[in-house]
Amino acid sequence: MKILLFGASGQVGRACRDTLQQPGWELTTVGRKQADFVCPDQVTGWVQRSRPEFVINAAAYTDVEGAEKEPQLASMVNGECVGSLAAACASFNIPLIHLSTDFVFNGQASRAYREDDPVAPINTYGASKLKGERLLRAVHPQHICLRTSWVFSIYPGNFVSTMLRLAAQRTTVSVVGDQVGCPTYAGDIADVIAQLVLRYQQHEDLPWGLYHCSSPEPCSRYEFTRHIFAEAEAEGLLDPAPWVKKISSYQYPTLAARPAYGALDSSKLAQLLGQPLPHWNRGIRQICQTLASKTVPAAIPPVLN
Ligand SMILES: NC(=O)c1ccc[n+]([C@@H]2O[C@H](COP(=O)([O-])OP(=O)(O)OC[C@H]3O[C@@H](n4cnc5c(N)ncnc54)[C@H](OP(=O)(O)O)[C@@H]3O)[C@@H](O)[C@H]2O)c1
Repeated sequence: MKILLFGASGQVGRACRDTLQQPGWELTTVGRKQADFVCPDQVTGWVQRSRPEFVINAAAYTDVEGAEKEPQLASMVNGECVGSLAAACASFNIPLIHLSTDFVFNGQASRAYREDDPVAPINTYGASKLKGERLLRAVHPQHICLRTSWVFSIYPGNFVSTMLRLAAQRTTVSVVGDQVGCPTYAGDIADVIAQLVLRYQQHEDLPWGLYHCSSPEPCSRYEFTRHIFAEAEAEGLLDPAPWVKKISSYQYPTLAARPAYGALDSSKLAQLLGQPLPHWNRGIRQICQTLASKTVPAAIPPVLN
């Protein structure tokens, strides 16, 4: 099975590089230097030249604040170019797995969002990702779109790595308590992708369409941070962990509005795969144990810069 992976240096991309190393699978990884999503021809060129049997797109403009300042760039990378990639895949009958976000919703729900709930993004990033979803759906029937949320990994540049960095510098860390979502470990998303590819290989088909793909237990950013610090403290990475002060979103103004409630109901995917994604606390434990196993001074958080 020849697999082509875009966005190979991102959180999900890196995790996919590990899980997609399987016997009989030939993985080609493509980064921004080889295919910049502001130039759709570069992206579609890879599909035309390498004729993979499966394509995974983990590339995206993910800077939520930056998208407010560069809306056209976000729209091109997350919207138009996804449409071009999907059209190229469709023309060669190549299935495509693409990733999207809980930020397509406005965050006003009182229960976890299902796939058929109305979308209404409240920031530019969310709107750009929604555009990509719609173009994908319009041009390529053989697609799986996985909406995920609050992605974290051991690599820098996500909420967990940022909190651990701050923990090493401060005695108090202020975190919003009024944003709720489902943290999701990049490795667990990659496992889902590997399962889907395997299933396609076995059945030469998949139940195509849109799936929510998050860990099952929603929490606030405040609760999430407390858990990260407790786990890091238990592994000896923090001594002691800083105090976590709960604040509200209006005390932490940002350029882009964030949905207050972004929990995703991933039961459709769980039904397909026979089990839900693991609880996010397993991913936090894995990260802290990996960091602790390295010989670094406890006060210097290693991931993390
Ligand atoms: N991170 C989250 O919390 C979150 C939440 C919900 C959904 N998602 C979605 O999940 C997917 C994976 O996210 P992630 O957390 O793995 O993102 P990430 O770590 O920010 O990685 C994004 C990847 O996209 C690449 N990229 C950015 N601009 C590009 C361009 N113009 N051309 C080609 N490649 C470009 C980046 O390349 P460089 O390394 O060169 O920058 C990087 O490899 C995305 O679709 C994202 O929208 C993420």
